[in-house]
Amino acid sequence: MGEVIQENSSQVNPGNIVMSGIRPTGFLHLGNYFGAMQNYVKMQTEFTCYFMVADLHSLTTHPDTSELKANVQRVLAENIACGLDPEKAAIYCQSQVFETSELYLYLNMLAYVGELEKTVTFKEKVRLNPQNVNAGLLTYPVLMSADILLHRAKFVPVGKDQEQHLEMARNYAQRFNHRYGEVFPEPEAFNFNSKLVKVPALDGSGKMSKSENQNATIYLSDDNDTIRKKLMKAKTDSGPVEKNSQMPDYIENLFQLMELVSEPSFIQEQKEAFNNCTIRYGDMKKQLGEDMVRFIEPIRTRAEEILKDGPYLEQVMKSGAEKARNSAIKTMSRVREAMGLSYF
Ligand code: TRP
Repeated sequence: MGEVIQENSSQVNPGNIVMSGIRPTGFLHLGNYFGAMQNYVKMQTEFTCYFMVADLHSLTTHPDTSELKANVQRVLAENIACGLDPEKAAIYCQSQVFETSELYLYLNMLAYVGELEKTVTFKEKVRLNPQNVNAGLLTYPVLMSADILLHRAKFVPVGKDQEQHLEMARNYAQRFNHRYGEVFPEPEAFNFNSKLVKVPALDGSGKMSKSENQNATIYLSDDNDTIRKKLMKAKTDSGPVEKNSQMPDYIENLFQLMELVSEPSFIQEQKEAFNNCTIRYGDMKKQLGEDMVRFIEPIRTRAEEILKDGPYLEQVMKSGAEKARNSAIKTMSRVREAMGLSYF
């Protein structure tokens, strides 16, 4: 696995290109915010950034397109509400950059079926959905590689679950360069924060999720009462009976969430209360709920406003696609040239 490049790395320089994508399936949540979007927002001022809604990828598992446009618009609106700026970054939709499909085709000839079948995400999707094992699902990592290589991107901010795909993108870049001549830099995982922020689910069962575990996940679209209710239902117990005891996972998770949205003095106070066994989880969750509402409400309201403005969203998608295609067209003429496909 490639190492995750950190902010202080000497390899970071503003000439480098950043690319990332997010599928328009499910709802964006607090984990996406702290794991991805916050990172994008910082990067957009320092690098040339391409941020994409991966609608073609969603077709591998969600062939019904009746709600696709609405989902794409929601993801765009939520990202913009979190601070992504269409003036600074190219924010676009994958299907509108047609060059993606061409590069995907060429890269498919460099991808071996054996290695695709061994991909962890592929095996997982086959297990979950054995009745729709289509070829697009198998070549999902090839399409993702096309997204990245299309801009000759160097840095790809992604979560752990995508690192294997990124390794495959490096393989395809190497194979291409080796066979047809040097065109692609090798893309690497990138993270702006020196420590990866963990955003645990509310029931003590792993991370927040776009589609599963909805009661244990705080979505950016949750209304205030839903947020409060979810917090009140978060798993706790009757409290420690011995001073300075070990914190159970699910309580530690709540503290981790407080680190993201609550006042440091409140967190300190609660830690002390835990250590001397006077903690009242009900009160703590209530305050955490209020802090969470204070954090989510402005994002949700802004996203709702943006969503109502259809013409604005269309204009964002149009200008994003234009920027992305400018870059894609340049890369593709180098690709065709290198491959000997420029006949006239
Ligand atoms: N596969 C990614 C995910 O599921 C989304 C994605 C598509 C992506 N193309 C990309 C991420 C290119 C980074 C770069 O989250």
